[in-house]
Parts: sequence; C-alpha cells; structure tokens
Amino acid sequence: MEKLELLYEGKAKKVYKTSDKDLYIVEYKDDATAFNGLKKGTIMDKGIMNNKISTELFKLLEDNGIRTHFVKHLSEREMLVKRVEIVLLEVLVRNYAAGSLTKRYGIEEGTRLDCTVLEFCYKNDELGDPFLNEYHIKAMGLAKEEEVEAIEKMALKINDILIRHMNEKGINLVDFKLEFGRTNDGEIILADEISPDTCRLWDTATNEKLDKDRFRRDMGKVEEGYMEVVRRLC
Ligand code: TMP
Ligand code: ASP
Repeated sequence: MEKLELLYEGKAKKVYKTSDKDLYIVEYKDDATAFNGLKKGTIMDKGIMNNKISTELFKLLEDNGIRTHFVKHLSEREMLVKRVEIVLLEVLVRNYAAGSLTKRYGIEEGTRLDCTVLEFCYKNDELGDPFLNEYHIKAMGLAKEEEVEAIEKMALKINDILIRHMNEKGINLVDFKLEFGRTNDGEIILADEISPDTCRLWDTATNEKLDKDRFRRDMGKVEEGYMEVVRRLC
C-alpha cells in the first residue's frame, strides 16, 4: 500500500492518505505530550511499541466481536486503518480512581470504583478537551442518541475484554481513553489507538505504573514501563 500525502499530524501520530480512498496509514511517533501539550518530550521507540501494542489489542478486540479501524500492521511504526470520520468525543473508562478523577472528587488514587465509570470529553485541543454529558453531545450535534448508545455499549464491552486479557498478563487496567469513528455506511467502529499513552496500566502484584504517568509525573524509567507492557502483551 503506497503512502501518499500527509492528511493530519497529531501529538502522537501522523495520518496519511493511500492509493485506496477508504484506507489510511497511521504512523506512530516517539513524541510525547501531557497536560494538553504543555509538557513535551520524547519516549524512545514509543512509536514502535505503541504500534505493536495497539495491533495486538485491536486484533484481540476484533476476535471478540468489536469492530475497529484496524486493517493491518504494515511496518515498525505504520498501521493500515479504515478511513472513518472521527466522532469528536474522548470516551474515558475508569475502573479504579486515578488522574483527574482523584483531583476532581478527592478520591484516593487506586481506590476501586463500585462500578465502571464512563465519561465524555469534547475532543478539542484549543478548549483543553472539556467534559461533556449526553445532553451536551446531543445539543451540539456531536453524535446522535443511537450513536452514543452504541459507543457506551462498545466501551463497556471493550473494558470487559481488556480487563480479562490484561489480568492474565499481570496488568491491572485502571482507566483508559477511546475514540470512535463513523464508516462510510454510518457504522460506529473503534478508532485511534490503545497503548500505554492512552491507558493507565499497573502491575497487579506491585501496583507499579507501566504507562505514560511515568512521563507525566517525571517518575523515570518511562521506556522501561512501555517495554514491559510490550513484553507482557505482545
Ligand atoms: P485523566 O485521569 O487524565 O482524565 O485520564 C484518564 C485516562 O485517559 C488515562 O488513562 C489517560 C487517558 N487520556 C488520554 O489518552 N488522553 C488525554 O488527553 C487524557 C486527558 C487522558
Ligand atoms: N495527550 C494529552 C496531551 O498531550 C494528555 C495526556 O495524555 O496527559 O496533552
């Protein structure tokens, strides 16, 4: 598949057109940002590791009946994906309290939540991805009611599949972020990536953090955390 013009460059990935109008190539970068781009850095070989991990997890989800944009792992940093129109929502799924949830509600980090929490943010860097509820989503025309229902159902099913799989590998899935897209026929499918950039992953035995929080919080051994996730999942 030939890589044509660059369509979009985000903080962690580039998206290219291909000779097939319905397929894009995603290139995973080593660039890392946090706090809406305020903190910038590089995580060596992150692009290679996130491409590997996302490939594994998209395949796992496809095998379990979740439709995703994943088509094929092309090279170290490149993945072939279906063209979708990205729904401008970041869907957060939380099993344990961490990150912004602990700050907002004063819950201690690591507290197991009595039920899984789903949250929506408006995917808009200029506004700093502000929180949204279902009313805002409908009022702003970001997604139809049936689409929001489909997204919620898929997000919870993805959570079940990932929790079970990661647990077998000694990883506790604390929380994560998903993005969805609409295909040509208007079907909602999973898009973006699933990696230590977009998930909080803790060692089940020691609670050691194996994800981007090591970068966000200057904890050191960032690459080692990602490498450990590759070792266990791939
Ligand atoms: P938060 O606790 O900072 O709201 O993050 C929740 C989860 O979402 C965490 O696993 C990190 C992920 N996330 C992203 O992938 N991108 C983002 O821009 C943010 C804010 C969080
Ligand atoms: N990726 C987001 C940013 O660049 C936030 C994060 O992951 O912490 O700001």
